[in-house]
Amino acid sequence: MLIRLFASILLFCSAGVAVAQPAKVASPDGRIAVEISTDNDGRPSYRVSRNGKPLLAPSRLGFILTNAPKIERGLQIGEPQFSKLDETWEQPWGERRHVRNRYNQMRVALTEKNKPFRKIDVVFRLYDDGLGFRYEFPQQDALTEVKIGEELTEFNFARDDATAWWIPSFEWNREEYLYHRTPLREVGDAQTPITLRFADGTHVSIHEAALVDYSGMNLTRVEGTRLKADLTPGSEGFAKVERTAPFHTPWRTLTIGDNAAALADSSLILNLNEPNKLGDVSWFKPMKYAGVWWEMHLDLKTWASGARHGATTENVIKHIDFAAKNGFGGVLVEGWNVGWDGDWFGNGEDFSFTQPYPDFDFPKLAAYAKSKGVQLIGHHETSANAAHYESQMEAAFDLDKEMGIHAVKTGYVADAGGAKLVGRDGKVHLGWHEGQDSARHHLKVVTEAYKRQIAINAHEPIKDTGLRRTYPNWISREGARGMEFSAWGQPGNPPEHETNLVFTRLLAGPMDYTPGIFGMKTRAPDGVATTWAKQLALYVVIYSPIQMVPDLVENYEANPGPFQFIKDVAVDWEESKTLNGEVGDYVTIARKQRGGDDWFLGSITDENPRDLKVPLSFLDKGRKYVAQIYRDGPDASWKGKRESIVVEQHEVTSNDTLELKLAPGGGQAIRFAAK
Ligand code: NOJ
Ligand code: CA
Repeated sequence: MLIRLFASILLFCSAGVAVAQPAKVASPDGRIAVEISTDNDGRPSYRVSRNGKPLLAPSRLGFILTNAPKIERGLQIGEPQFSKLDETWEQPWGERRHVRNRYNQMRVALTEKNKPFRKIDVVFRLYDDGLGFRYEFPQQDALTEVKIGEELTEFNFARDDATAWWIPSFEWNREEYLYHRTPLREVGDAQTPITLRFADGTHVSIHEAALVDYSGMNLTRVEGTRLKADLTPGSEGFAKVERTAPFHTPWRTLTIGDNAAALADSSLILNLNEPNKLGDVSWFKPMKYAGVWWEMHLDLKTWASGARHGATTENVIKHIDFAAKNGFGGVLVEGWNVGWDGDWFGNGEDFSFTQPYPDFDFPKLAAYAKSKGVQLIGHHETSANAAHYESQMEAAFDLDKEMGIHAVKTGYVADAGGAKLVGRDGKVHLGWHEGQDSARHHLKVVTEAYKRQIAINAHEPIKDTGLRRTYPNWISREGARGMEFSAWGQPGNPPEHETNLVFTRLLAGPMDYTPGIFGMKTRAPDGVATTWAKQLALYVVIYSPIQMVPDLVENYEANPGPFQFIKDVAVDWEESKTLNGEVGDYVTIARKQRGGDDWFLGSITDENPRDLKVPLSFLDKGRKYVAQIYRDGPDASWKGKRESIVVEQHEVTSNDTLELKLAPGGGQAIRFAAK
């Protein structure tokens, strides 16, 4: 009996060394554990438990290749190698200054038992708030050119009591969908991050970190509660991924917490990225920015030239004056360059990134902005013709540099699958916004921009996987339904939208959402479906180092009371804490200003009113603050009086508790001004 037991837990690898099965590793606090083993056919799988309870049942690992036999069975596990790290690193800008990176690592080799003895490594990193794992393809004669048809990675949930929040993958409008809320066993093809809540309150987000030179990972539900990787296709004529060994995949990640708030406060994705490899980015200052923008989305002005052209010298001067007067650092100008006339959707080859329209006096505006202490923010809409953009990119960034520009918003408007990308053969191919060539394109843009001290805010981007740690001039992006949907969406964004975003899309990284609208009647059927107080709260709730002040100048000037919060709110943070929240229902976040003593709080709800008790224990002990409160009026509601807002102030300390009353579709914004 004893002997049989012994035989079942030991295998012999080809070198004759006995290897314990399964190989195991646990998180530093011991709560999360991972085991990897092979079955009788040599098929590798991993499983995950938390607090001793299974979370993932055995979940497969491996690859289907298009230029070689698959790597999926007939494998054996080598001796695991363990290591650990506990370091604290500093973000140049961010939602917190210091990030603790503490993990236990296990590396195991999977080697074929038979010729040609191909080998891949799987590396697991376990944190207290989740785990990441990736495959590494070492250099070896038997496997040099690797063409991946599919990754077989699974997330096979051991429990069937989860609710999932997700958006569909491979749909024409890319990431711009409202979130589905379904039982886990009704998920279809989903993008990541996808968020799950189990009956015991455990929350899990599946995503990826460090998506470099690889295709983005989607998930498909194979059956029951078993999800599987579904990589974005490669460009026309290419496999999903084509690499030369040695290389490694992005990290596949599970962020795990006891509640929704824990997901929002996790730094797992950042920690799994490489440290800054560009260098100094102190020239980039987090900022708020105005723009010639919302008036085009309302169709009051046009990107195209003509009588209603928005980007005229005169209109830009008006916005520079507005920014300067109110202390905003930048002014975005869209529609400044030739290419917008006609049907620009999908016609990226018409754009020039160096030739302004004649009624936009670039040098004059650059000089005027400089004299007012404001920067112009560049705009490069490419219509996802990345190839055409690359042909002008260096000249475009040179020009921007000359004009004193330190931030450029890029745009990739085109239907999914309709991007035009440079393949590894140097030719132009149709491809996907999240395919391997797109991943390569974005890093090319970010590194070229960095050489000229320019930061990038990409719209219709590849998804965020935490690369801002490695490339800290990649400051923000869109990648979800932004405020623009409330201008013209059919439908617009419903009241619960932002309470979904915080616990889904925003787990990936900063978003250029553009909150702060006061003019609630728009072209969308429900207009901007929130109260004013909620618009203010979004500046704290949604993290981005650049935050737009997008509404018409007139709407701000007519409402100096609530506008004061937008002027005061910080954009760079020493610390951030999610105080409460439920996915799709409500959330409250407090953040401490970096380089200052003030704290700010934002609280938002969906279509339901809420009363939330918030202890102020996050405030610095022993300090007095004036709480400048912007709350929903008693009759406020997204269905009725959106503009009903009360502005009041009183003194508080960390011993106090506030009772927040949020209206339907409402919110509350507070500045705690240190005395
Ligand atoms: C979509 C972007 O999200 C929006 O901000 C921009 O104004 C338009 N594309 C035009 O580039
Ligand atoms: Ca809800």
